[in-house]
Amino acid sequence: MCGIVSVLSRNDGIIRDLIDCLSRLEYRGYDSAGIAYVDKNSRLCVKKTIGKIASLEKIIDFNEGARCRIGIGHTRWATHGEVTIQNAHPHTSDEVAIVHNGIIENYESLKESLMKDGFVFDGVSDSEVVAKLISYHLKKNNDFLKAFQATIGQLKGAFAIVAIHADYPYMLLGAKRGSPMAVGLSPDSQRFYIASDAVALSSLCHDIVYLDEGDSVVCELTDELRYRILNSNLEVVDRQKTRNNVSLHDVTKNGFEDFMLKEIFEEPVVAQRVFRNFKCNVNVADYRSIYIIACGTSYYAGLLAKYWLESLSRVHTDVEIASEFRYRNPVLSRETLYIFISQSGETIDTLSAMRQVKNMGFKTLAIVNVEGSSIAREADECIHTDAGFEIGVASTKSFVAQTMVMLLLSIQQKSRLNIDGITYTMYSILNDGFVIKALAERIKDKARLLYLGRGGSFPIALEGALKMKELSYVSAEGYPSGEIKHGPIAMIDHQVYSIIIAPDDYYVGKTIVNAREILARNGEVLLITTGKVLANLHDLKKNKLVDHILLKDQWEYSTDPAVDQLLRSWPYVTAIHMLAYYVAKARGLNADQPRNLAKSVTVE
Ligand code: G6P
Repeated sequence: MCGIVSVLSRNDGIIRDLIDCLSRLEYRGYDSAGIAYVDKNSRLCVKKTIGKIASLEKIIDFNEGARCRIGIGHTRWATHGEVTIQNAHPHTSDEVAIVHNGIIENYESLKESLMKDGFVFDGVSDSEVVAKLISYHLKKNNDFLKAFQATIGQLKGAFAIVAIHADYPYMLLGAKRGSPMAVGLSPDSQRFYIASDAVALSSLCHDIVYLDEGDSVVCELTDELRYRILNSNLEVVDRQKTRNNVSLHDVTKNGFEDFMLKEIFEEPVVAQRVFRNFKCNVNVADYRSIYIIACGTSYYAGLLAKYWLESLSRVHTDVEIASEFRYRNPVLSRETLYIFISQSGETIDTLSAMRQVKNMGFKTLAIVNVEGSSIAREADECIHTDAGFEIGVASTKSFVAQTMVMLLLSIQQKSRLNIDGITYTMYSILNDGFVIKALAERIKDKARLLYLGRGGSFPIALEGALKMKELSYVSAEGYPSGEIKHGPIAMIDHQVYSIIIAPDDYYVGKTIVNAREILARNGEVLLITTGKVLANLHDLKKNKLVDHILLKDQWEYSTDPAVDQLLRSWPYVTAIHMLAYYVAKARGLNADQPRNLAKSVTVE
């Protein structure tokens, strides 16, 4: 949710670094972008544009900026104020420029009082008050650091802020309250960076430091680059360095057209890796119940896990959306294990829900993909999902990693799983990608989609509908197939296209009955199923009444037939991810960066 970056360097030519870092942060938002730097004549220069980093790059004169050594950059996901140049970052006031990620909750009162003092605002964003407030304090006491600290002390909300000043081209200041912030030195100690996360600094810093809540950072260039981290009492503190694990492989497309397609192709590899490396100190059977809290795709991973936890471990499991949980005053218990699932580890609703549970003294377990993220650091226990960095805004391989972790927690003994069977099905879906691509051409103009499934196929249906909505902007709804007769069947006509997840499992007979109910009402149906199931539907097949994606289902997923049954629908997620991807492409849309979305949602 907005990406920020900044650099202070002993040598010239930092603009390229700023742009490269911003490109890697684009997954956090791409409504507008901008940079500010102090040029060789000690002038503050600002370049801003609506849209993506590619547009920003076009308006930058790299020769003009070649001699600068300090700068900040921002890629925006709009919260306060529409997408305009005035609301784009960096925001300036006199010689000060700032970039901000998060929300300043008390900006209205601050703005009112600054306006009374004669400050004039260009836009309506909450962030602009930060620049003006630093200016205000500078007028009273001409000290940039003190003015910055006084400003931070007055702000309420969740934020990460970086500031520069044209008269202080040797000083870079940052502060973190609620939003993530990572800092690092280049291996040759020539450049110091402050950014939203590790991915921004991949290939620039081998080691990074994540700031703690309330920390600020002061970097100064004297005879050498020195930085100090201060806690909320302004005492100098040491924070642990961590290896920056984001690899070049993670941040490049490696020949794929889009990151999302690359990440879907990684799903079987990720499943294998998580299976192989899984280690955990937590035994779910030690608890009376489990409570899973998450958002978006991570929430659907939790829903699927409920089927496994209750059937395999016989532990009562509740699953709830974090934004509801945190304000609902739920009844909690010491005998419950609270599991928080998050790809980014920064989703504010999930993080706040976890803090609430922790503050009450209950046990928290985080399932997180980004090491060093806030949720990973603050949970009592954390399992790293090890999906590798995910760049596509829509979560794909992370869902596979999250569900694999949950399955291993539920099943307790790895030996009960036939991981090769599961990945074989995923690979066969990837190999038949051309079938899904051809179907996407048929689906791309459908006005309404209904995703249906029973048992474990139901969360997969929900995940399918979410992916279709976010990538293709098509109205898509996920429903338990047994429930359509209680409402959704009323909307079935020739304009509704139903995508039914029908693996060869215990429920398949009932699922097919639901498909027939839809066909009887002139609805169109796509069955995602196996050749064996379709072979028994002679009439449908003969009369070409249904579209189909056929999966090769000859592998067992477990030697225990009961476990095998529970898992039959799980690898189908690769097919529904591919379908959403190809429909987006068929509609000419950007699958990696769907409109209005951001990958890491650090605001409410
Ligand atoms: C955003 C992303 C989704 C993601 C959700 C939860 O909405 O666009 O892809 O599922 O956040 O994110 P988390 O990082 O907590 O899993």
